[in-house]
Amino acid sequence: MSSSKSMIPFLAELLTATAASYVLSQVLKSYMNEKPFLETFDIPAFTDFILFNLFKVPVSTAWNAVLDDLMDEKKAPKKEKGDDLEASRVQKPIKWKIVLYKLLLNQTFYSMFINASVIAFMSFRRRTREGTVSFEAVYGDLERGFWPLYKDALKLWPFVNLVAFALFDTLPRMRFLTAANLFWSVYLILMVT
Ligand SMILES: *[C@@H]1O[C@H](CO)[C@@H](O)[C@H](O)[C@H]1NC(C)=O
Ligand SMILES: *[C@@H]1O[C@H](CO)[C@@H](O)[C@H](O)[C@H]1NC(C)=O
Repeated sequence: MSSSKSMIPFLAELLTATAASYVLSQVLKSYMNEKPFLETFDIPAFTDFILFNLFKVPVSTAWNAVLDDLMDEKKAPKKEKGDDLEASRVQKPIKWKIVLYKLLLNQTFYSMFINASVIAFMSFRRRTREGTVSFEAVYGDLERGFWPLYKDALKLWPFVNLVAFALFDTLPRMRFLTAANLFWSVYLILMVT
């Protein structure tokens, strides 16, 4: 993994793509509902989405980097330039056991953490605007919202994540997931409208 400073353009790229996906999905939604975009675009919801992703994008990238660092075999130290070229020509076989370990950890520990954070954060923001924020209220939203969200996402995402872990290295994987998210939100809109 490169130094954290050189990660900033990459994280900015992911965030921009995530924000653009959101706006695009809202444009599509207003089109499907035959309503003017500016009338339907919810600025507070967009702000919350961006704020949450300012947290989620770097944390998810770091999580993926840590998983890969922990589980992948350390790259053998390079010997001569010739060896290097030779090695890069050989297609690396997929290590399915490692892929499945990563998938399992991601779908349990990490997903629960992210699901709980998104619900708590969104509840906190909404209730702050409404003036009903309290620890008990946010905790109640978390209790009610957690399982439905977690179970829902379990339907599609394990497959996407399996592909992500099997075929991509850390950074291209984050780009792949950002693109998958766009398709997922478009799909959701087409399904509900
Ligand atoms: C919630 O957890 C699921 C289950 O793995 C995951 O796919 C989904 O992305 C999570 N939701 C959010 C908002 O991160
Ligand atoms: C891991 O879990 C998070 C949170 O549920 C999800 O957004 C992400 O797509 C998953 N996969 C990878 C490869 O990070």
